[in-house]
Amino acid sequence: MNMINNKLRVVNIVGARPNFVKIAPIMHAMLQSEKIEPILLHTGQHYDYEMSESFFKELSIPEPDVYLEVGSNTHAKQVATIMEKFDDYLDTTHIDMVLVVGDVNSTMACTIVAAKRGIKVVHVEAGIRSWDRTMPEEINRMVTDSIADILMPPSRDAVENLKKEGHDDSKIHMVGNIMIDTLIQQQANIDRSEILQKLGLEKREYALLTLHRPSNVDQIADLSQIMDAIEQIQKQIKVVFPVHPRTRKMLGKFNLTSKIESFDKLIFTNPLGYHDFGRLVRESRFVMTDSGGIQEETTVYQIPCITLRANTERPITITQGTSELAASKKEVIVKFAGQILNGDWKKGTIPDLWDGKTAGRIVEVLERC
Ligand code: UD1
Repeated sequence: MNMINNKLRVVNIVGARPNFVKIAPIMHAMLQSEKIEPILLHTGQHYDYEMSESFFKELSIPEPDVYLEVGSNTHAKQVATIMEKFDDYLDTTHIDMVLVVGDVNSTMACTIVAAKRGIKVVHVEAGIRSWDRTMPEEINRMVTDSIADILMPPSRDAVENLKKEGHDDSKIHMVGNIMIDTLIQQQANIDRSEILQKLGLEKREYALLTLHRPSNVDQIADLSQIMDAIEQIQKQIKVVFPVHPRTRKMLGKFNLTSKIESFDKLIFTNPLGYHDFGRLVRESRFVMTDSGGIQEETTVYQIPCITLRANTERPITITQGTSELAASKKEVIVKFAGQILNGDWKKGTIPDLWDGKTAGRIVEVLERC
C-alpha cells in the first residue's frame, strides 16, 4: 500500500509480444481505478521495433516505468538475467503485488522473484495446459501457477486444470480472456488498416501463415514439411507469411530461404503491427499458425484455423472454436486447407467471458484484495 495515496502498488510485467496485447487493457483499467497504482515493467525480452515498440504505440500502452533490457539468450540465462534485474529493482521501491500475464520466460522469472520475497503474485491466463513439457511455455505455466497467489484462468477447462492441481477455489477467479478485450477495443482501428491494399489482397482470397515455435522451426524435418505443405497450398490460394525473427534465422540456417522465395503466391512480410495483423486475420479465408493467441482470435472472428501443433493448451478453440490440430504433418495441413477451400469447416461459437470485459473483472478482484 502506498502510504501517501493509500493505493495498492501493482507492478505489471511484460517481456514478449503477446504480453503487450494482454497488458494494454489491464493498464488502462488500472489507471481508471481509485484503489490501484499501476507500474509497468518491461523486461526487454523482445526489443525489435516490430516486436515491441510498435505495440506500445498502437495499443496506447503507457511508456514502461522500468526497462530491464535483458535481450535474447538461452532460456536459462534469459530467465536468470530477468530474475537478477527484477530482484535489484524490487530493492529500490515498495511493491504490494506483481501481476504477470501469459507464459513467456518473463512471466515465470518475475513470479519466482516475487514469491521468494513474499510479494503476492497474480497470474492472468492461469491454468491452461498443453501437458507437453517439451514446450518451454508449459514449464513456465506450471511453475508460475504453482507459486502464484491469485489465479485468473481464461476458460472453464483452465479452471478445472487448476482444481485438479489442488488449488483452492478461493484463489481462482475466472475472469475470461484478456486478449479478446484488446481485439474488441481495437476493432475500429483494425478495420481502418490498409494492409490488404498494400499487399494487393482481396478479402477471403488469401490464407495467412505464422510460425515461430521451436518445435516447428528449430528442426529442418518439421520446417521442411510445413514449407512443402505451403508449396501445395499456395498453388490454390495466396499465402501471406509475416516472418518471426526466430523463423527467419532458422530458414536461413537450413538453406530454405531461396526455395520458399521461389513460391509464386507466397507473400513475405516482416512481423506486422497489431492492427495490420488483425485485419489480415479477419479478412482471410483461413489461418495456419502455431500461436496460441491467434487460435483464440480466429475463434472469436470465426475464421477457420489450422493449428500447426500436435497439442494445444487452448482446447476450447477446438471444442468450441474454429481450430483443428495438424501438427507439422504435410498431408494433414494440405487436407485441412482443401476442406476449408471446399467450404467444409466448422463455424464454432465464442466461449464464455471472451466478451471484452475481462480487464474490468481483473481490477474488481484486485480492488477487493
Ligand atoms: C517468445 C516466447 C513465446 C511467445 C513468443 C512470441 C518464451 C519462452 N517464448 O518466443 O512464448 O509465443 O515470444 O513472439 O518466452 N529476436 C529478435 N528480436 C526480438 C526478439 C527476439 O530478433 O525483439 C530473436 C532473437 O534472435 C531470439 C529469437 O528471436 O533468440 C527468439 O526470441 P525469444 O524471445 O527467445 O523467443 P520467441 O521465439 O520470440
